[in-house]
Amino acid sequence: MREHMIKTLVASAAFGLALTGMAYAEPVDDKLVIEGEEGTLELVTSTKAPDHLQEVMDTIYSGWHYREDDTRAMQKDDFDNPAMVFVDRGRDLWNKAIGKNSESCAGCHNGPESMKGLRAVTPRVDAKTGKLMTIENYVDACVTERMGLEAWGWTGDKMKDTLALISMQSRGEVVNVAIDGPAAPFWEKGKEIYYTRFGQLEMSCASCHEENQGLFIRSDHLSQGQINGFPTYRLKDAGILSAQQRFVGCVRDTRAETFKPNSDEFKALELYVASRGNGLSVEGVSVRH
Ligand code: HEC
Ligand code: HEC
Repeated sequence: MREHMIKTLVASAAFGLALTGMAYAEPVDDKLVIEGEEGTLELVTSTKAPDHLQEVMDTIYSGWHYREDDTRAMQKDDFDNPAMVFVDRGRDLWNKAIGKNSESCAGCHNGPESMKGLRAVTPRVDAKTGKLMTIENYVDACVTERMGLEAWGWTGDKMKDTLALISMQSRGEVVNVAIDGPAAPFWEKGKEIYYTRFGQLEMSCASCHEENQGLFIRSDHLSQGQINGFPTYRLKDAGILSAQQRFVGCVRDTRAETFKPNSDEFKALELYVASRGNGLSVEGVSVRH
C-alpha cells in the first residue's frame, strides 16, 4: 500500500496533477473467451513474464484487463467487435485485381490463411535482406515491387484493413518474437528507447507502463502497454490503430517530439515492446476505448 502511495506521488508530480483521483487498481480478473464464427476461442491474456523481464515483473497482462466492462465485453463476441467490418474490407481488397498488371494478393498468396502465424513473430529480421520487418513493411514491399503501385504507407485505410485481416489469421497464437541472433541489435536499441526519458515531463515508456501500471491517469487505467492486442479498434477514433500509431500518441502525451511510424526507432521499439508480451495471445483485432 505504501509503495502505491509513493508511486502515486511521483506520477502526480510528473503530470502536474492534483493528488486527488490518483488511485491504484489491479488488472480486472476476467477471462477472454471469444465467440466467433468458428466457435469459441480462449485467449491467453495474462501469463508469466518472459525471462528478460523477470527482474522487473512476475506477470504480464494484456491491455484488455485494464479496460471497462463494456469495452471488454465487445471483444468477447465478434458480432459486437466493430473491427470485424475492417477485417471484411481487408478480405475484399485481398481478392481484388488491383495491381498494375491486375495482380491480387490472393493471386500469389491464395487465401489470407496463408498468413497464419506471421503476426505472432513480427517484427522480425528478414532472413534474406537482414532488415527488420513489420507486417506493414512486408505488405508495402509487395504493393510496390510486385504490384507496381505506390506504397500504401502506414495510416491509410488499405494498409490498416490489410493489417487487421493478416493479424486475425494469428488470433490465439502465442506471441513469440525473436530477440537473439540477428534481432539482438534491434532489440537492444528498442530497449534503450523504452527506458529513455523524453519531453518536458521527462517520462519514459517505463515510467508509465512499468512503474505505474495500475494507476488511474485522467480516469484511464494504466496498463503495461502491451501490443499483443494490436492492431486495435479504438472507440475514441472509431477506427483501426496500429501499434506505432499508439506509440505516437503516448510520446506526445509526454510533450515530446515523437518519432514517425516506420522510423528505425519505432520499428526497434515495436520489436522490443512485442517481446515484453512474449507468451500472451495475439488478439487479432482488439477493442480499446
Ligand atoms: C505519461 C504516461 C505514458 C507514457 C510515458 C507512455 N504511455 Fe503508453 N499509454 C498511456 C495511457 C494512459 C494509455 C491508455 C491506457 C492503457 O492502455 O494503458 C497508454 C496506452 C498504451 C498502449 C496500448 C495498450 C493496449 O493494450 O491498448 C501501448 C501499446 C502503449 N501505451 C505503449 C507505450 C510506449 C511504447 C511508450 C513509450 C514510447 C508509452 N506507451 C509511453 C500512458 C503513457
Ligand atoms: C506477384 C506475387 C505477389 C503479389 C501480387 C503479392 N505478394 Fe506478398 N509476397 C510475394 C512473395 C514472393 C513474398 C516473399 C516470400 C518469401 O520471401 O518467402 C511475399 C511476401 C509477403 C508477406 C510476408 C509473408 C511472410 O510470411 O514472410 C506478406 C505479409 C505479403 N507478402 C502480403 C501481401 C499482400 C497484402 C499483397 C496484396 C496487397 C501481396 N502480398 C501481393 C508475392 C506476392
